[in-house]
Amino acid sequence: MRTFKNNKINIKPILFFLTTNHRSGFNSQLTAMATMMTKMMSISSAMSSSSSPSPSPPQPSAQSLSTQSPPSPSLPLRTIPGSYGWPLLGPISDRLDYFWFQGPETFFRKRIDKYKSTVFRTNIPPSFPFFSGVNPNVVAVLDCKSFAHLFDMEIVEKRDVLVGDFKPSSNFTGNVRTCAYLDPSEPQHAKVKNFALDILKRSSKVWLTELLANFDILWEKVDNDISEKGSSSYIFLLQQSIFKFLTKALVGADPSNSPEIEKNGFAMLDRWLALQLLPTVHIGVAQPLEEMFLHSFAYPSFLVSGDYKKLVQFIKKEGKEVVQRGETEFGLSEEETIHNLLFVLGFNAFGGFSVFLPILIGTIASDTTGLQERLRKEARENGGPSLTFHSVIEMPLVQSVVYETLRLNPPVPLQYARARKDFELSSHESVYNIKKGELLCGYQSLVMRDPKIFDEPESFKPERFMGQGRALLSHLYWSNGPQTESPSASNKQCAAKDYVPLTACLILAHMFRRYDSITGSSSSITAVQKAK
Ligand code: HEM
Repeated sequence: MRTFKNNKINIKPILFFLTTNHRSGFNSQLTAMATMMTKMMSISSAMSSSSSPSPSPPQPSAQSLSTQSPPSPSLPLRTIPGSYGWPLLGPISDRLDYFWFQGPETFFRKRIDKYKSTVFRTNIPPSFPFFSGVNPNVVAVLDCKSFAHLFDMEIVEKRDVLVGDFKPSSNFTGNVRTCAYLDPSEPQHAKVKNFALDILKRSSKVWLTELLANFDILWEKVDNDISEKGSSSYIFLLQQSIFKFLTKALVGADPSNSPEIEKNGFAMLDRWLALQLLPTVHIGVAQPLEEMFLHSFAYPSFLVSGDYKKLVQFIKKEGKEVVQRGETEFGLSEEETIHNLLFVLGFNAFGGFSVFLPILIGTIASDTTGLQERLRKEARENGGPSLTFHSVIEMPLVQSVVYETLRLNPPVPLQYARARKDFELSSHESVYNIKKGELLCGYQSLVMRDPKIFDEPESFKPERFMGQGRALLSHLYWSNGPQTESPSASNKQCAAKDYVPLTACLILAHMFRRYDSITGSSSSITAVQKAK
């Protein structure tokens, strides 16, 4: 059991490319596929709701978390504590605390202590001086119960609030407002979300083979690095493997057909992601430089437009089949399809895995409690001689470790939603009046350590989600919804809610079939013991 202290988002791999001079010169088949998809679906339900592959009983809907069960009459009505401060000064002071003097976690913790409430008013950057159109005022929701209101599409809307009131220019995405910025009330959301869900289902035919092939390549490179240099700084090797695997699986496009994309595609995405996200992310490099250069203005998209155009051309040419499906089956224009496809690939999938996998690998590689031995035993003794999607069902510890890592390190720590109407919001202790138009902001890293829900919330407990513990999956929110719910066109839950943990489990099982032990961190591997 270990205690986690540092939960800030790791976009260092992405930022690397801003600070280095990276060269950017930069029918049986149908049946088989149907079988694979069916298997994938059953695995998905096994991953999300039960430790056996049998169908699980219906789960309560996300809406029941807030509106269907009216606030308990025993909870007192309380005015939301906190204030936004003086115009300009309040937002600046909060911005400096958030990015510089305190960091996100302390920022939220201090205010919980000050107001004796997990719900309060505060400002969230970006703000003054060059974000004049951005309103930093939010109502923070920092316990499991109040946070769950963010999933109730009847009372909140998600239009353009992916990263708060600030929205990176649509120029980054070919002037298309992509799925993640659309509210379910907008008809376009259903078209694109269904397209994303369809891409995932169809990709299950090659998902496993591409994943394992690219991770074989990754581990071979890591082995070589270790034997030549004594250690392996594996982040970019990992990103290269994720990029190739995801591009082939989701877009049906092989990066090897374009030498430049094969070599630099992942770095192009890193730069594109970094420019969009910089104003909102706490990095922890030298202050006041971070404040002056990273958090004071939005970066223009033209800095990465050359890279972006190359990626668009690559998808248009190599991903023809998937693009055509977007047009013919989902009623999207070619432009909408390509830019959404690139957003799902680059922002959602590549971005999400680039943050999550180093944390997962680092958590395991730095463990000194004997967890590796237990994972190795489970991964080798269960799941059959070759890994399949079904193998994971027989690996409850592997699953629980993946879920526990997602709990303590939600890769997308901040979630926002705007009140669609006036409503009453409940925390564990009180009820608060929220007015239509107010922006709610949840910091998941703290929410996932809610002591009213999770026993010893600060500790990494590998078995937490095993056996009876699986009931806690209804409080695991990394996907912007409970792990027991399903993404759909009418909600904003991550389309890959089941694929992400399943993939992470396969990566761990694959790793422990290759190695007896692995030593390192979220950025480097210093030693591996090959399986005897
Ligand atoms: C570790 C990897 C991933 C993480 C951590 C992650 C996380 C998230 C989160 C938190 C959201 C909700 C954002 C918000 O509205 O606040 C989201 C949305 C979304 N994700 Fe993922 N995601 C991951 C991988 C993927 C993959 C592989 C896909 C591939 C299809 C995907 C597709 C989507 C889509 C389409 C949405 C938008 C849903 C909507 O607008 O209704 N994600 N993801």
